[in-house]
Amino acid sequence: MKKLGLGILGSGKGSNCRAILEHISAGKLPAEARLIVSDVFEAGILDIAREFRVPNVYLPPGKFRTRLEPNVEMELVRLLREAEVELVVLAGFMRVLKEPMLAAFPRRIINIHPSLLPKFPGVESWKQALEAGEKIAGCSVHYVDAGIDSGEIIAQRNVPVLPGDTPESLHARIQIAERALYPEIIAQFCEA
Ligand code: GRF
Repeated sequence: MKKLGLGILGSGKGSNCRAILEHISAGKLPAEARLIVSDVFEAGILDIAREFRVPNVYLPPGKFRTRLEPNVEMELVRLLREAEVELVVLAGFMRVLKEPMLAAFPRRIINIHPSLLPKFPGVESWKQALEAGEKIAGCSVHYVDAGIDSGEIIAQRNVPVLPGDTPESLHARIQIAERALYPEIIAQFCEA
């Protein structure tokens, strides 16, 4: 089967990226990570890229805090196209994507978010779930649109909120679910 070309974007430690690369290495995901990009120079995701020998690049984001500077975003499109990326996978990428990326990869950019969207978009959503007294939390994989965690939902996985949970314990349980769900959903794109 032809392998689906992935571009993985992240700003943090990269545990979802590692899970995806491990699934590929184990032959459980017929995909090829063609480029890993981070807007954070010292992000763990770049170490993971080097560990798995995936081409990687640090992309200085420019002067804005929550998005890329337009010329930088155009450069990102160029890099992903040059690497023949077919599906863009956001794995802890902390910037909102705008028109250059959305137009270049229509319905080909996905994200994973640690809540049962549409509940609790934005940051520290596990904390929001705990504070709201939810009994069930979880994670969502969704298409990326111009909003924050607002695109069409592709799949979700529930985890229980247990008595005595702290934000940390709940977050850890959600992340375990994320690392299983994301490779599974990417595999569906490989079949499409
Ligand atoms: C994940 O919890 C994901 O849901 C959110 O950012 C976090 C990234 O973690 N979008 P990691 O960098 O994959 O470890």
